[in-house]
Amino acid sequence: MDALVAAALEVRRHARAPYSKFQVGAAIEDADGRVWTGCNIENATLGLTICAERVAVFKAVSEGAREFRCVAIAAQTEHPTPPCGACRQILWEFCGDIEVILANPRGVTETLRLKDLFPRPFDASFIR
Ligand code: THU
Repeated sequence: MDALVAAALEVRRHARAPYSKFQVGAAIEDADGRVWTGCNIENATLGLTICAERVAVFKAVSEGAREFRCVAIAAQTEHPTPPCGACRQILWEFCGDIEVILANPRGVTETLRLKDLFPRPFDASFIR
C-alpha cells in the first residue's frame, strides 16, 4: 500500500496541467502485483483532458492487464482528492469493487471501496 501511494505521488510529478495547475497521480496494482501509473494530461480544449486514473487504467488494459487489486490516487489537497465521476465509472468497468486509497503529499491517506464511492453503478449487467 505504501509503495502504491509512493508510485502515485511520483507519477503526479509528470502531470501536464498548465490550465488547472491541479496535478494528479494514480497507481493501480494488478492481480500479478504489477503497478501501472498515470498522471492527468490536459488539453487546450479542456474537454479532451484525461484524468490520471483513466490514463493508468488504459495503460494497464492496453498492455494486457485485466484484474486489479487496488488503486492509489494522489493530489495536493488538504483532504485527499476522490476520483471524478467519469473515473469512477471507468474504474468500476475495469476493476469492480476495488480498494481505493486517496493520498496527499503530507502523508494523509484514506482507504475506501469503490462501491462506497460509486453506489448503484450502471454496468454490463443492465445490457446483457
Ligand atoms: N483530475 C484527475 O486527474 N483526476 C480526478 O479524479 C479529478 C480531476 C484532473 C483533471 C484536470 O486535469 C484537473 O484534475 C482539474 O480538474
